[in-house]
Amino acid sequence: MQQTIKLLNKTVSDLIAAGEVVDRPLSVVKELVENSIDAGASSIVIEIRKGGKEYIRVTDNGSGIPEKQVHMAFQRHATSKIQRAEDLGYIETLGFRGEALASISSVSKMEVITKTKENQTGSKTVIHGGETIEHISTGCPDGTTMIVRDLFFNTPARLKFMKSDSAESSAVIDFAAQMALAYPEIRIRMISNGNILFSTRGTGDRRKVIMTLSGNDPSMKLLPLEITEGNIYVSGYISGPGESKASRKGQIYFVNGRAISSKILEKAVDSAYSDRLFEGRFPIIYLFLEISPSEIDVNIHPNKREVRFNDEKTLTSVLTGGIKEALTVKEAVPDMDINGGPHVFQTQDNGPDREMVADQVDIKTILSSYRHEAEKIKEEIAEYKVGYGNKEPRETIHIEKYTEVKPFDFAQIQVTGSIFGSYITATDHDNFYLIDQHAAHERIIFEKLMAQFNGKLKVKQPIMIPSTFSADPAISENDEKWISILDALGFSVEDFGPGTYIIKEIPMFLSLSEAEKFVKDFLDTYSENTDISQPEQIKKITGTACKSAVKANDHLTEEEIEGLMETLSKCENPFSCPHGRPTFIKFSKTDIEKRFGRT
Ligand SMILES: Nc1ncnc2c1ncn2[C@@H]1O[C@H](COP(=O)(O)OP(=O)(O)OP(=O)(O)O)[C@@H](O)[C@H]1O
Ligand SMILES: [Mg+2]
Repeated sequence: MQQTIKLLNKTVSDLIAAGEVVDRPLSVVKELVENSIDAGASSIVIEIRKGGKEYIRVTDNGSGIPEKQVHMAFQRHATSKIQRAEDLGYIETLGFRGEALASISSVSKMEVITKTKENQTGSKTVIHGGETIEHISTGCPDGTTMIVRDLFFNTPARLKFMKSDSAESSAVIDFAAQMALAYPEIRIRMISNGNILFSTRGTGDRRKVIMTLSGNDPSMKLLPLEITEGNIYVSGYISGPGESKASRKGQIYFVNGRAISSKILEKAVDSAYSDRLFEGRFPIIYLFLEISPSEIDVNIHPNKREVRFNDEKTLTSVLTGGIKEALTVKEAVPDMDINGGPHVFQTQDNGPDREMVADQVDIKTILSSYRHEAEKIKEEIAEYKVGYGNKEPRETIHIEKYTEVKPFDFAQIQVTGSIFGSYITATDHDNFYLIDQHAAHERIIFEKLMAQFNGKLKVKQPIMIPSTFSADPAISENDEKWISILDALGFSVEDFGPGTYIIKEIPMFLSLSEAEKFVKDFLDTYSENTDISQPEQIKKITGTACKSAVKANDHLTEEEIEGLMETLSKCENPFSCPHGRPTFIKFSKTDIEKRFGRT
């Protein structure tokens, strides 16, 4: 049967197009909040009911829409943000497609109340499924309120795909929290089912926003990050090596004020933490990147969550280098968590596991504690009028927890002794440290070997009675490859008959037994598939081999300890072994005093 090809009518094509922009309450909130930011708002209230399925309200104090243009704002491809094709190469606003309001209004019952400063009166317009039902002039405050009711009332298929109220509201709340972090200069208040979940002050201080959102969670220890390089500016907060998560859930990336997901940025972060965290653990990252709009392309996907960078290589190296540097401050030494953490002084075993504590630093969990707080102020909320109530709800927690970040100063550290033949004890003015001898030694050997590898001069010592070892056939088949790497690391190894090798020279700083163990472990980790042109792979194998080379439980003399600390202080990264285990654990004087009930 011949099918006739016909143009779809406008209602149907609008519904299809809307599906690309709006797929759940989160996308509605995102579009509305982005519009408020583009309108220059300094205060935004986000309110949802039933996860946003029943009701979404975004109120701002931005520019407002002139009454005559409200109708136009809801047309598809109508925007005030760009005009010409060239503008697409230089997008400075969050919106630019002119799609959002048209899409949202075609799949919901919408109401917009808006007024510009210049006009005495504002307007109220009601649009159901894309049809204007009512339009009147009305008195209202400057700014815009957008209300979206009964999302997807006319697209039952979409409606079915929405998740539970709590899943939808979590997504919205997470987004609101992210926006609050990205825009500390805007007051952002999040209300769900009548409860104020959080309210930021809009003072521009991002640390305060983190505190507001984290509810003074003591495990939320973050280091500030600030990098300026050419036309790249990065700011934000990152976790030290003591905090990590089992997934990337604690990571948010913003580029020019836009929340994005980016493999490039994730990879740059991973490589900065590569020798500080165990594999499979992820740092907490709040990263805000400012880059010239001409250096990026945001017009890749309709949901605008992807960005393409013109110069990925420079960006990656700037970011990795900057994070590595930020991790070398005093605060990057993992702290002793007095409620649990490394179980050094733990008398009972029921304290929360440190990893678990770190995992709980999750905005959702943080916010759930907020819900509790919000319960208590319900009466106040009842008086809070939509948008511009005259009674301010109580502000949430504002505790200044951050101290000034100073570079870690080894010169201030006084060694006091050692315990169990394994840990060095030391103090500075206000902290007590335990230093893991083994981890420290591993770090030192690793950095020295890598320095030999990367440098021209190899400091080798011949050994009196050359030592022999054998290798698997698969490994010995292409022995010139690994012999050349060992040579670069400072070992002279020669073929000594089928499958047998002889070590003639070893690096100056290794003992014979350390060198023998290193070579053995190096070959155990090396495989036919190792790509020796990849420095990262060499680093990894070398790191692993260092582990067994170093003896644990070795009583060191006072001079040896001093020597170890001195060499450690010269390391590029003295705070963790090559596998990410900490070399230091810090107990602050205050923590110790708390333990003794003195404070
Ligand atoms: N809260 C607001 N305050 C002031 N003007 C607004 C607001 N929301 C929307 N507008 C106006 O309505 C226009 C259409 O908004 P819409 O979100 O549909 O498109 P956009 O923001 O231009 O592009 P995008 O589809 O990428 O979001 C905007 O260009 C802006 O001029
Ligand atoms: Mg928009």
